[in-house]
Formats: sequence, structure tokens, C-alpha cells
Amino acid sequence: MSQSQETLSNLLQETRRFSPPADLAASANVKADAYEQAAQDRLGFWAEQADRLSWSKRWDEVLDWSNPPFAKWFVGGELNVAYNCVDRHVEAGRGAKVAFHWEGEPGDTRTLTYADLQSEVNKAANALLELGVRKGDRVAIYLPMIPELPISMLACARIGATHSVVFGGFSAEALRTRIDDAQAKLVITSDGGFRRGKPSDLKGIVDEAVAQTPTIEHVLVVRRTGEQVAENDLDVWWHDVVERQSEDHTAEPMDSEHPLYILYTSGTTGKPKGILHTTGGYLLQCAYTHHAVFDLKPETDIYWCSADIGWVTGHSYIVYGPLANGSTSVIYEGTPDTPNKGRWWDIIQKYKVSIFYTAPTAIRTFMKWGDDIPAEYDLSSLRVLGSVGEPINPEAYIWYRKHIGSDRTPVVDTWWQTETGAIMISPLPGVTAAKPGAAMRSLPGIVADVVDDQGQSVPNGGGGFMVVREPWPSMLRTIWGDDERYIKTYWSRFDGLYFAGDGAKKDEDGDMWLLGRVDDVMLVSGHNISTTEVESALVSHPKVAESAVVGATDPVTGQAIVAFVIPRGSAGEEVEGADFAKELRDHVSKALGPIAKPRQIMMVPELPKTRSGKIMRRLLRDVAEKRSIGDVTTLADSTVMDLISEKLPSAK
Ligand code: WT7
Repeated sequence: MSQSQETLSNLLQETRRFSPPADLAASANVKADAYEQAAQDRLGFWAEQADRLSWSKRWDEVLDWSNPPFAKWFVGGELNVAYNCVDRHVEAGRGAKVAFHWEGEPGDTRTLTYADLQSEVNKAANALLELGVRKGDRVAIYLPMIPELPISMLACARIGATHSVVFGGFSAEALRTRIDDAQAKLVITSDGGFRRGKPSDLKGIVDEAVAQTPTIEHVLVVRRTGEQVAENDLDVWWHDVVERQSEDHTAEPMDSEHPLYILYTSGTTGKPKGILHTTGGYLLQCAYTHHAVFDLKPETDIYWCSADIGWVTGHSYIVYGPLANGSTSVIYEGTPDTPNKGRWWDIIQKYKVSIFYTAPTAIRTFMKWGDDIPAEYDLSSLRVLGSVGEPINPEAYIWYRKHIGSDRTPVVDTWWQTETGAIMISPLPGVTAAKPGAAMRSLPGIVADVVDDQGQSVPNGGGGFMVVREPWPSMLRTIWGDDERYIKTYWSRFDGLYFAGDGAKKDEDGDMWLLGRVDDVMLVSGHNISTTEVESALVSHPKVAESAVVGATDPVTGQAIVAFVIPRGSAGEEVEGADFAKELRDHVSKALGPIAKPRQIMMVPELPKTRSGKIMRRLLRDVAEKRSIGDVTTLADSTVMDLISEKLPSAK
């Protein structure tokens, strides 16, 4: 091991361990023996799990992998996703159980029981049929976080239409390209939704997109905000068409491989990829992982995933997994700082949320806002916390566990992707002695690994690329309309292995640490240094709330490390100036070794992020290399780069 590798593995020598609370371990849904059982007979394990679902026709074969990388799971089986998520719970006498506690941003609420959900989904399914939508057609959904969003998805699933949800923050152009690629027949939207106290305009964006799409036959519009909207020929109001429909509809069984949905991943370059998920295997892995990773007890838990349903996290862990398991969930429409920065904790207190799932970017924002805010609320109902979306820095993990989880709840760091459909690598809350910052190991039935550039499994202590060795039930089946690109993107880098595009390390115990996208690795004086490691070192300084690190071209070292830092709310004036920058540079050097010492540290008020919360390092690289700033259209907040340039006049 070279000197720099040695020092860089310091971060992985994180010694803190958090074992499951004894009561949770004793009553956990999934115990340690599941790993062993699944390892002995992986397909047998999934076959057994398949009994979590109600099949109209039992499958003949668990997996057909005769034509890799095109998988077929539960071959010959038939089931209906909406029936599994709704009707069967009603039939089992749980119709009065709450499926969703919905909380609008202005404070209005709606409660939907499973019986309510059944009649709403049936009416919507009948309306889709009346509007000419048939099995196999595609429906675009561009809605805010209101109950009609899951209702629309389930209505599609019920009749076998393939939905494509487009996140409500995307532009008309982004919506148009997705509608065109999927050749959607119908768009479901609303007059708007509430964000930061104001109604957003979704309908205007849909009108702009639809004007240029040849395939759309109708636009189905939900009234949410009551704002005036333009009415066009293709428009029909939800309250006119859906409300008058019959509440009866018999769900039609679908083939296990019937296309359930397409979800476009932004992709850093090129045309967005339409990730295709199908029916049986997808629903099964959502249900199993939701049960296993969150230890979901449907009778007593109140579950809340704060993601937007427009992302895969919302598809799998607000809609499909939780409903398949008969959970009671919270859905919140708005932003975390409306009307004040305690809104999320207020929701947890109000509904007595026991399982909470969010993203590191949100956690770091709360750290920045200060510990005193969550301290004002009673968060004692919480018993499991989850994280997803990017590597969670150890300090953010510790903060989350301490200030939200009362230093008692397990935190599960769940690694997966739009493409994987469901969680792949994660601690189990009743089994794993978790390490802050590590996703730990593959779930039972999943075979993920870290390989070197030759595709060889790295030994413990080694680093390389994240791959998956064996097909899994909720894997993407292809990129919509582009099998070639599917093969090229995911299955060509290493023979027979799924290439996830993430860098990762195995520690001495063989536990896995995700290091971000492989394109986020810097090459400094011939050493590979991951942006995540330097960011985590910076965030471990008590005065740093958040940081983003990029490699900037450097005449001497090839690339040099440039760090952007948001100081903590309470750090005050002392954070300005050269002394503080030096303090941070020394801090990183001490944590990771001199090779990882940033050349330059810039204090900024905000960081540029995509709408799903991922840092856009490309723009920061422009700043670091003193170029004019590139395309900012996919930024969540387009003013952030102006704020940064103002603060750093030299970088303009
Ligand atoms: C990428 C996938 C999975 C739902 C949300 C994002 C990163 C995700 C983790 C984690 C480290 C993570 C990876 C992955 N990522 N979870 N726990 N630790 N990195 O879905 O937009 O498809 O992004 O997010 O880089 O490849 P997505």
C-alpha cells in the first residue's frame, strides 16, 4: 500500500459502531440468518419472498436469464400491482386503516384509508378508460405531491397503462422530451401545487410542452391551488371526469413482466434515459426491502419518506413498497422551511412518525440551520431512520442519529439507483452494527461487489467500482426504446457484471463504502482521491455545515483539490478570512494526509444542486478553473450560481 493510500484509508478507519437496540434486534422482521439462507439458494429465497404478493396466476420459473442482460422474473406469473397495493388489504378487512396522512403545505390535510384509496383509484381507472387509455399505452404524470399523484399511478397500474412520472420541478422542454420519448397519450397535471408558500404553475408548463408534442390526446387537470389557468381543447378537469365515475373496477391481471413504469434519469450528459421497470419482480423487491430495511410493522408504524414521488425513491418507498405492505404513511406537499424551519419535525411530532427516510442533502441543511430547531419538537416516536441519494458523511450520520434519532435509533444508509429499482446495499436495523458513512453489505438475495478495473473482486481494504454480480428482481429491464444503450451503459464495462457507475471501497471487514460517481474521482499527483472523502473530512470540522469538492486543472499536480464550504449557522464571523481557510486545510491534511489537502478553500452561502439534491460539481469546476459558468438549467435554484459569483468576485 502506498503512503497516500494508507493515509486516505483513515476515513475508513472510522471506529464508531452503532449496534441495534436490544428490543429492536429481538423483534426484527429480518434476522441475521436471512443472509445465510439467501446465499445458499438465492432464487429459492426470492421464490419464498414472492409469497408476499397475491398472484392471480402462479409463476412457472423464478428467473429466466437465458438472454442476458435481459431478465425475466417470475416467468408466466400474473398479478395486478394496484390490487396488491390496495384491494387485497380492503378484502382482508383493513379497509378502515389509513394508507396516507396527506399534509398540504398551507396546513390543509386529507386522510385516505385503504377503502378510500380503492374507490379513488377505481374511479381514476374508469376515467382513464373513458379517455381512451388502454393497456400498454403510456401516460405522463406531472403533478405536485398531492394524493392524485399516487392515485394516478395506481390507476395506470390497474389498467396496465405504463406511467411516466415527471418531477414537477422540470421545465417544459424536459417534459416535452420525456413525453415524446415515451410517446405518451395522456398527461395528468394540476393547476399547480404549493411550494414555499406560493402556488407553482404546472399547467402553463404542460401547455407549453404539449403544444409541441404530437402524441398527447388529452390533458387531465386536477384542481389544487384554484389559480386561474388557460383552458385548451385537450383539457379535461379531474373533478368533471373522474368524480362521476363508478367506484367499481375489476383489476386485470398483468403478466409479471408487463411494463409498470418508465422513469427518466437526468443523466449528466446526453438524452435522458427512460429506465423501464416491470411488474412482479419490481413490486416484490420494493415490498421485501421496505419490510426488511425499515423493519416495517404495518399495524403500529407510521412511516414517512420525505422524497418527491417524481424520483424513484418516491415510486418505490412512498407508493409501491409501503402500499404493498399495507403501511400507514405520511405524504407532505411542500418545502421543509414553510412556514418555518421546524416544519418536518412538526410533522413527525403531529403524526407520531416512527420510521423516517430522507437524504443527506436535507440532513446537512438541517445541521446548518442549527441543533436548536429539532430540539423544540418531540421526536420520541422515531425508531428507525434511513438515508438515500448520496454518500452520507459520517458527521451528518452522527448528527442525524443524535439530534433526530435521540442517539438511540439505528440509521440505515441505503444504496441503490433508479436503475436498481429498490434498495441493494444497506444495514439491517435489527442485525447490523452500523458504521457511520457505510452502506455496509448487500441485502439478502443481492450480490453486489467492488471490483478493480479488470473486473476482479478487490480484497478487503481495496477500492474500485461498484458492480452487481447476479440479476435481481427489481432491476431495470432496459432503457425504453434503446436496448443497445442499455447494454452499452450498464453491461459492457465488465463482462457479465452490472456496472453501477459508482466508486466504492471495502474496509478490512469487507463492509462497503460508497464514494460517489466514478467521474467524481480526482487525480492529484497521480493519486486517486474521491471528492466524497475530502468532503466528509471537511464536514467533520465543527464549523462546517456542508462542502463540495472538485478537482481543478493544476500545472503542477495535474488536478488540485478546490473546496467550497458552507459554514455552520452558529459559526459567526470567525469563519471569514484566511485563518479559517488554513484551519480547514490543516484539518483535512490531518484527517486524510497531506496529499488530500485542498489547494484552495472558498466560503460560499449555498451550493449548486440538481433538483434531486445532487451537487453539480461541473459548475463548481467552472468556478475553480475561472471559466464562465456552463448550463444551469437543471439547477434546483438557478440563482445559486449568482450568489456564489457575488461572494467570489475573482471567480466570475
Ligand atoms: C446514485 C443513484 C436511489 C434513489 C435516489 C437516487 C448515489 C444513492 C446512495 C448511498 C452513496 C448513493 C449513487 C447512485 N447514491 N444512494 N446510500 N450512498 N451513494 O437515485 O438519482 O438514480 O441516483 O445516487 O451515486 O449511483 P438516482
